[in-house]
Amino acid sequence: MKRIIDTLYETADLNDEDIRQLLEADFSVDEYLFQRADYRRQEIYGRDVYLRGLIEFTNFCKNDCYYCGIRRGNRTLERYRLTKEEILDCCNLGYGLGYRTFVLQGGEDSYYTDRYLCEIIGAVHEKYPDCAITLSIGERAKDSYQAFFNAGAVRYLLRHETADKTHYESLHPKEMSPDNRKKCLFELKEIGYQVGTGIMVGSPFQTTENIIEDIRFMQKLNPEMIGIGPYLTHPDTPFSCYESGSLKLTLRLIAIFRLMFPHSLIPATTALGTIHPEGREMGLKAGANVVMPNLSPTKYRRLYTLYENKICTGEEAGRCRGCLERRVNNAGYKLVTSIGNYI
Ligand code: 5AD
Ligand code: FES
Repeated sequence: MKRIIDTLYETADLNDEDIRQLLEADFSVDEYLFQRADYRRQEIYGRDVYLRGLIEFTNFCKNDCYYCGIRRGNRTLERYRLTKEEILDCCNLGYGLGYRTFVLQGGEDSYYTDRYLCEIIGAVHEKYPDCAITLSIGERAKDSYQAFFNAGAVRYLLRHETADKTHYESLHPKEMSPDNRKKCLFELKEIGYQVGTGIMVGSPFQTTENIIEDIRFMQKLNPEMIGIGPYLTHPDTPFSCYESGSLKLTLRLIAIFRLMFPHSLIPATTALGTIHPEGREMGLKAGANVVMPNLSPTKYRRLYTLYENKICTGEEAGRCRGCLERRVNNAGYKLVTSIGNYI
């Protein structure tokens, strides 16, 4: 296994058979793998960990993904939307706490027309010209993506979830297509966004072959950001009977992605912190270099429940910032407040 990890370290690639072996190896390989991944990250980004302020501005969603707690079919969930003014208040609070990236994330909610979103993006951009605006609002037309870019957004997060058509169709209703998801990602790239994609580790029916396909897809896309976390069960979804994904495999994939995409920005996700109290610290040590604490108003946080037992839903923004700073320091890294662009 050392040979495979050394090849991955030296060439930033592996053949399918080697990936398969590495993904299925027993956990004794992780110490060396994580050490190599951490070394590679330090060559490029040092010990810096970038801070992104997450603003979950709507939990309305027109989609019905089988795994997600805010799917439209979940009638038990109370829905909310933030106004432009409320979003600006979140940014203001975040700016004071040192945030220089705002991630506007939400369900696919057509209440936010292109025009209204451009107005929001424009207002944030005008007020905080030294900050990066990241969007995470799902699939839209290329013209819409272009309009958001012109209004001041520079990064876009859209996980492909799985590159395999059959697997994709087992996670989503038939009106959603993996081809459209991929098309959106390439369009975002063409427009000039820094693009983030990724998967849920251990989503129902996922196989090692699926993950190999995910890696190959990502090598074609060449994303600047890679978001991965364990799949976590939500009781009010059709997938409530499936088990959550594994912490160990998630960490191993973070390390593999760090070695394959050495320059990428990889968050230690909230899902990682949910599956294990020190999950985010472990993620950093396996090669992650971003944290995304929540800036959403506390009163709405418990309603943005993609999965069960999500952490930080009762905290206010200042406490999350402090908590994460402590966690990052304890893991041996340094939280930095710079804009944190792709190097
Ligand atoms: N468990 C873990 N991650 C989830 N997401 C959605 N639902 C879940 C879940 N049950 C992830 C998806 C989506 C991102 C915003 O959250 O990958 O792209
Ligand atoms: Fe929110 Fe720890 S990051 S309380």
